Amino acid sequence: MSKKAWGGRFEAQPEDWVDDFNASIDFDKNLIDQDIQGSIAHATMLANQHIISQDDAKTIIEGLKEIQVDAHQNKIEFKASLEDIHLNIEHELIQRVGEVGGKLHTGRSRNDQVATDMHLYTKEEVLEIIELIKSLQQTILKIANTHIDTIMPGYTHLQRAQPISFAHHIMTYFWMLERDKSRFQDSIKRIDISPLGAAALSGTTHPIDRHETQSLLNFSAIYENSLDAVSDRDYIVETLHNISLTMVHLSRFSEEIIFWSTDEAKFITLSDAFSTGSSIMPQKKNPDMAELIRGKVGRTTGHLMSMLVTLKGLPLAYNKDMQEDKEGLFDAIHTIKGSLKIFDGMLDTMTVNTDRLNETVTKDFSNATELADYLVSKNVPFRTAHEIVGKIVLDCINNGIYLLDVPLTDYQSYHQSIESDIYDYLKPENCLKRRKSYGSTGQDAVKHQLSVAEKLLKS
Ligand code: ARG
Repeated sequence: MSKKAWGGRFEAQPEDWVDDFNASIDFDKNLIDQDIQGSIAHATMLANQHIISQDDAKTIIEGLKEIQVDAHQNKIEFKASLEDIHLNIEHELIQRVGEVGGKLHTGRSRNDQVATDMHLYTKEEVLEIIELIKSLQQTILKIANTHIDTIMPGYTHLQRAQPISFAHHIMTYFWMLERDKSRFQDSIKRIDISPLGAAALSGTTHPIDRHETQSLLNFSAIYENSLDAVSDRDYIVETLHNISLTMVHLSRFSEEIIFWSTDEAKFITLSDAFSTGSSIMPQKKNPDMAELIRGKVGRTTGHLMSMLVTLKGLPLAYNKDMQEDKEGLFDAIHTIKGSLKIFDGMLDTMTVNTDRLNETVTKDFSNATELADYLVSKNVPFRTAHEIVGKIVLDCINNGIYLLDVPLTDYQSYHQSIESDIYDYLKPENCLKRRKSYGSTGQDAVKHQLSVAEKLLKS
């Protein structure tokens, strides 16, 4: 059991098992770099403000840098009895440089210290997530560019609806990710704020310069209220939300990948490098990566709920409940980064079965709306056209044929205005070609969409 940094007023010490429950070192050792960075900025400022001497600051900063190097080489034994990363580092510093190390904590508290660490950490990670999203968008765009003319059935209710371009379908995920990215980008301004110097809750009597530490740590803003600085965890909730929604999007895409790779669909073939086999069924090739990503939404959504509930009803200012902000955030960040990387690789290496896709839409009724539109072009009211085509489809189903197989004489018995040009009209590629409305699946509209996306990614 180590001597407690706060031991002065205590007559008894917690036993080890109580220390274990109280400690966060098992997970907040993750914040070593941010903690040292924050401490170096604080020590620099203390010296510049003549609160400690330049010599003492130098000793402290050198000690901190050595601790950082040693920690990365696993040469430091972190202890649960020292609670967290902050007290473990301070203890190590005093061991190494002597009593002068005890000057580092002048004018600050672990409350503003942990908040500083978490702000620095969250900002770095969110910037990385943004880059991973961009890379995945890049991959989607690359695939879309080669599949403008690949036709697939578009679905509603998972029933075939109308033929669409494969590029158009997958670009939907590009736009979802674009919104995700912009939410992460927007959140930076609420993450990138310095709480350092708020101390425990009320600020400090020492003549510190909070703006100096703000600028040393590259924070673009500063908390105006010391209580808010140490109690705000909104940016963590917001990050967990942004992660959760992005994961929800990835889970929707995963579901499609899983369906597309079934024997029933065969729309795509996943690379062996992103699939796994069965220990009993030798023929199996399973889309485990997509399934795992779909499954991991459970944990990211859980972390968001858990943080919201932890904060609900918390009075000002710091409460130990807030220590619960870390594991969920760390795990959510680990999860989304892994999921984005895997998704990117899985898409980049999959084969789109172009022939199979093009052929599917010749063996279904996804061109039925076109037939109705054809009749509309012959001045038949849409409702009447819908009714006629419904009857034609029913007869086809009963005869085991599709719309392109119906003889012209039969067509004319349903409506005399149907002429021989109907066969060209109903071809899937022409169904797409006629879609010229903005943002539609027509080849020209898709080309325009891709050029807008291209420009966005470059900007
Ligand atoms: N380990 C603590 C946490 O993560 C650090 C802050 C502790 N502050 C305190 N007053 N006990 O929240």
